[in-house]
Amino acid sequence: MNLRTGPWIDPNISDYLRAHAAAPDAAQEWINERTAELGGISRMQIGSDQVVFMTMLTKLVGVSFAVEVGTFTGTSGLAIARGLKPGGRLLCCDINEEWTTIARDGWTRGGVADRVELRLGPALETLRTLPADTLVDLAFIDADKTNYLAYVEALLPRLRSGGLLLIDNTIWYGAVVDPSRDDADTVAIRAVNDFVAADARLESVIVPIGDGLTVARKR
Ligand SMILES: C[S@@+](CC[C@H](N)C(=O)[O-])C[C@H]1O[C@@H](n2cnc3c(N)ncnc32)[C@H](O)[C@@H]1O
Repeated sequence: MNLRTGPWIDPNISDYLRAHAAAPDAAQEWINERTAELGGISRMQIGSDQVVFMTMLTKLVGVSFAVEVGTFTGTSGLAIARGLKPGGRLLCCDINEEWTTIARDGWTRGGVADRVELRLGPALETLRTLPADTLVDLAFIDADKTNYLAYVEALLPRLRSGGLLLIDNTIWYGAVVDPSRDDADTVAIRAVNDFVAADARLESVIVPIGDGLTVARKR
């Protein structure tokens, strides 16, 4: 059983769905093994069905420049990098050297290291260094939840028309609809969900894959 699925999906169905998505290759398996060795924190990694979905979305949109906020051990970065157009680039933001060392090795094994730039440091600072006229084709947000809205506000003006904003954990294991939950992370995720749903620049849907993945397309 893979724990990276929300409680709204029966575990047997979750296993079935994953078994019927394209299987991880050797580079992804290597990342999976290194990530599992980290213990419980490994649950931060996106699931194998979401990997396939994100590579597919990247290919469908036609991505020359992508930004990822929250890299961990490199799974989502590998998924995006594999879907880039020839010559495409991915900027990855994270603050953790140990975890992203695994990511770099995994990307080398997967043959995509040449198209990925990893910047270590608070992602908001990295995003603010992007020139205002930078055109982002796809952005993926999967870092500290209390900064989610700030990440959206930094990325949305740079997202090109037809580009995709992907936001992870937007169901937050059901906490978004649990009135007893008022912790900072849950409040922050509700706020970003409300913002994205109401923003006239975006058409969006929360897909119940993994822990909820918002897919928002800029008009
Ligand atoms: C949920 S994990 C990302 C999982 C990853 N997308 C994957 O597919 O395996 C969240 C990551 O955000 C990073 N992070 C937390 N706060 C951050 C910040 N202020 N700026 C950049 N990265 C941050 C953590 O170091 C961690 O690696």
